[in-house]
Amino acid sequence: MIMNSKTLWLVTALICCCIWSALAIPKFWIANAKRPAYIECASSDECTFDSCCVLGMDRYSTPICQKKLQLHDNCRLASEEPVNSTVAYPDGQVVSLHKVHLIMCPCADGLSCDYKSRTCVNFDDAYSFNELNETPNRFDD
Ligand SMILES: *[C@@H]1O[C@H](CO)[C@@H](O)[C@H](O)[C@H]1NC(C)=O
Repeated sequence: MIMNSKTLWLVTALICCCIWSALAIPKFWIANAKRPAYIECASSDECTFDSCCVLGMDRYSTPICQKKLQLHDNCRLASEEPVNSTVAYPDGQVVSLHKVHLIMCPCADGLSCDYKSRTCVNFDDAYSFNELNETPNRFDD
């Protein structure tokens, strides 16, 4: 049997399609297996510019995007800096988190967490760490 060019094209397309599926489907499957559906964010980069990825301190807390704190909101010094973490869940899933904030978001851009009042204040009004003789214990709250 002699294949005409149309048949040849169809056979080629079919083979390409098979190869593509064989490569793409497992990739798709692995990418989704990597990240359980209950993980809303694995990094603050996945949240909008005015929100951040927050991880609660309860056992099996799941990270979620939350709004950054606004002027006069209560803040936590230890939540200002992002951290990397790995969390494990009862279903056996282990998820690496990058640039997440513990318990709450930091103050919004232009604001900072005042060392004394523990509220978000305009950046220039914040009690400066540089003026302190000793480094405050940022995790003591
Ligand atoms: C988190 O991980 C990134 C890249 O993996 C690294 O550059 C950064 O220094 C880490 N941050 C902390 C607080 O360990």
